[in-house]
Amino acid sequence: MPTTDGSQEKTLVALGVTQPEQLTALFQEIRARFDAEIAAVHDQAAFKNFRDAWLGRKSGVLSGITDNWLKPATPELKRAVGAGLNELRAHADSQIEARRAAIESGADEFAVAKERVDLSLPGVVRAIGSRHLIRQVFQEIEDIFVSIGFSVVEGPEIETPYYNFEALNIPEFHPVRDDMDTFYVEAQSAGGAKTAPGSLLLRTHTSPVQIRTMEKRQPPVRVIVPGKVYRRDNPDATHSFMFHQIEGLAVDTDITFCDFTGTIEYFVKQYFGPGVKTRFRPSYFPFTEPSVEFDVSCIFCGGSGSGANGATCGKCKGAGWIELFGAGMVDPAVYGFVSYDAKKVSGFAFGMGMDRLAMLKYGIDDIQAFFQNDVRFLKQFP
Ligand code: FA5
Repeated sequence: MPTTDGSQEKTLVALGVTQPEQLTALFQEIRARFDAEIAAVHDQAAFKNFRDAWLGRKSGVLSGITDNWLKPATPELKRAVGAGLNELRAHADSQIEARRAAIESGADEFAVAKERVDLSLPGVVRAIGSRHLIRQVFQEIEDIFVSIGFSVVEGPEIETPYYNFEALNIPEFHPVRDDMDTFYVEAQSAGGAKTAPGSLLLRTHTSPVQIRTMEKRQPPVRVIVPGKVYRRDNPDATHSFMFHQIEGLAVDTDITFCDFTGTIEYFVKQYFGPGVKTRFRPSYFPFTEPSVEFDVSCIFCGGSGSGANGATCGKCKGAGWIELFGAGMVDPAVYGFVSYDAKKVSGFAFGMGMDRLAMLKYGIDDIQAFFQNDVRFLKQFP
């Protein structure tokens, strides 16, 4: 930091000084340098560096003068060097002290200024995130079902084949497993023991939670189950290998197919609005009997099957209907797995593809948009 020319590191002989008069100019030069440098010192860090550079015991400028000029000086020069050095030291001490006081009072002023709060200034605007659209739609759907007496339950994403298949009346080697076969996982206990191959899997639907719920509760049961599910499906505009479902289950002593259709239609009109048309088609699930697929009129073409320019609607492929979910009356065989009396109880169940419900309502034409975390997409659903 100091701009010293290093003259204090040489002896007077090396500097060619033989007469006391020559010392006067030498000391003046050093003092001028000191004054110029101290004028540029404005904060604590610079002050410390400056003081060490001039007064430091080992390599300070004044120590250099003592060691290289004073100590080896000839008797003729010694007195003059001593006098010059004393004068320089007194000057340096007083200037450094004055600068220290100035910096410390300035620092206090700075600290006070920093703490002073100007309430008229605009606040710091922090970007606040929002809930993902899928999470918002979960909430919307949960609210609708909770308002008609359903409660929300959850279940594990890692399941056993028993809950995912067998207890749902899907025995091993049943062909329906082909569509759903999935990712099997291996777990390791704290002691290092591994689970047997094929004994755990990522659940392929939320239906296993039907079984888990009926094992724990006696009728009447009215639950919905939101959650993630996994399938070995290739990704495209309507398929993902991880997606979301909402399962519904209602079991009581007197539940009929009419209760089922009434509940579903109520939900769909609440969710999509009163203008939407609905229909049931026969279908097959091993754990419901009868089973249905539930369709809504295409919200993109209004059910006409053709787009604005008369071309075939790309969303419903001209059908005018879009498949929403599978459902049905709970198959009596399932009650056998949970010790319910199939002669006394009846009920219905459904499993909705949440992502597709969200796509339909919000006009999203590619399911992958949900999982790409593109802020431009996410920001459209604050
Ligand atoms: C089932 O998963 C049954 N568990 C539904 C059910 C529950 C039937 C209760 C009867 C009683 P399905 O495989 O059709 O059924 O899937 C249900 C919905 O999940 C589909 O209608 C669709 O909306 C959605 N879905 C299925 N596969 C995918 C996928 N790969 N990506 C995104 N959504 C999907």
